[in-house]
Amino acid sequence: MSERDRAGAGGQTPGQHRRRPRYRGTHPKSYTQKYKEHNLAAYPEIAAHLRAKGNTPAGTHVPVLVEEVMACLRPRPGDIVVDCTVGYGGHALEFTKRIGPGGRLIGLDVDAIELERTRSRLGQDSVPVNLYRSNFAGIAKVLSQEKLDGFDVIFADLGVSSMQIDNPERGMSYKHEGPLDMRMDDRLPQTGADLLNSLSEEELAKAFWELADEPDHQKIAHQIVLQRTAEPFSRTSQLVHVIFDAKGLNPKTWRQQQRDSKSGSLHPAARTFQALRILVNDELGSLRELLRVAPYCLRPGGRIGIISFHSGEDRLVKQSFRDGVRSGTYQSAAKEVIAPGIEETRSNPRSASAKFRWAAAQSLQS
Ligand SMILES: C[S@@+](CC[C@H](N)C(=O)[O-])C[C@H]1O[C@@H](n2cnc3c(N)ncnc32)[C@H](O)[C@@H]1O
Repeated sequence: MSERDRAGAGGQTPGQHRRRPRYRGTHPKSYTQKYKEHNLAAYPEIAAHLRAKGNTPAGTHVPVLVEEVMACLRPRPGDIVVDCTVGYGGHALEFTKRIGPGGRLIGLDVDAIELERTRSRLGQDSVPVNLYRSNFAGIAKVLSQEKLDGFDVIFADLGVSSMQIDNPERGMSYKHEGPLDMRMDDRLPQTGADLLNSLSEEELAKAFWELADEPDHQKIAHQIVLQRTAEPFSRTSQLVHVIFDAKGLNPKTWRQQQRDSKSGSLHPAARTFQALRILVNDELGSLRELLRVAPYCLRPGGRIGIISFHSGEDRLVKQSFRDGVRSGTYQSAAKEVIAPGIEETRSNPRSASAKFRWAAAQSLQS
């Protein structure tokens, strides 16, 4: 295949040629320019090269704790599995390999754009795969739409995918200039910018503290309220500037601090961006609802497993599973949290904050 054919191989009819995007220098830098990464079928060598360096190719997602999840949730031939956060389909694919013949995979995701891409990737598997654009808080409705009495396995891998965080148009990362959107589900009424422009100083400070432990929550909220009277928020870079101002930093001093510190520290805007994203998507509200209804959606002996990425989520999961064991709803639950080992964090640094917990429903005999 010629370079021109390969560059144009994604999303167009055979025989059509499309020039690769123009960019300055020898390598594409922005998300959309990385045409090879968006077309790994035509450039398989790129995936291996980037993964060897611990990077995630643009437009993909590397699933975390796969072996641990499969070992604890024990998907078996004939099982009906619901992957509540199907994303790129990494975990879903592993489930499908284990539940045939006779099994079924049901996948949920709120993100319509990525769900359609994943539908075509998972479509060729050996077991039926039914994908729903649904919030996992609505898992009980999906159960009845599927005319099932329960799932054998419920799995959720919380938060955002690499495709979402790396795409500047989604506005989820302080690293990329873009619209301050942050919605995983574009049917949600309010973007990140809308919330910054409308919530009170107290509400913003509370969110930054409670959802991300931001130590400068009050200063940042105060600076946001001052800034928005001059110019309403619409871009990620505006929020980054305000956070630097509130913390008395500038990008140059921050870069110097980074060079001086051996381990590297968290970006000054990381916690505020995390808190705002959680707020925009009501991530804790959806998780609470999933944890509330999950026991009623599991078959006897069924297993539930949840990967979380920050302490607020993990606390809810741990508490719910512990309470479930105490009340007899669950027969057993993970005694300790399961986290990635050194090898996984080295090969996929994004896995570093992952925490996995599981619980098992009472079986019929017990
Ligand atoms: C970390 S990614 C999952 C990656 C996936 N396990 C894989 O291997 O590719 C999280 C996904 O969950 C979706 N998501 C987040 N909250 C959700 C919710 N409440 N209901 C349904 N999907 C949700 C996001 O849109 C994203 O695609």
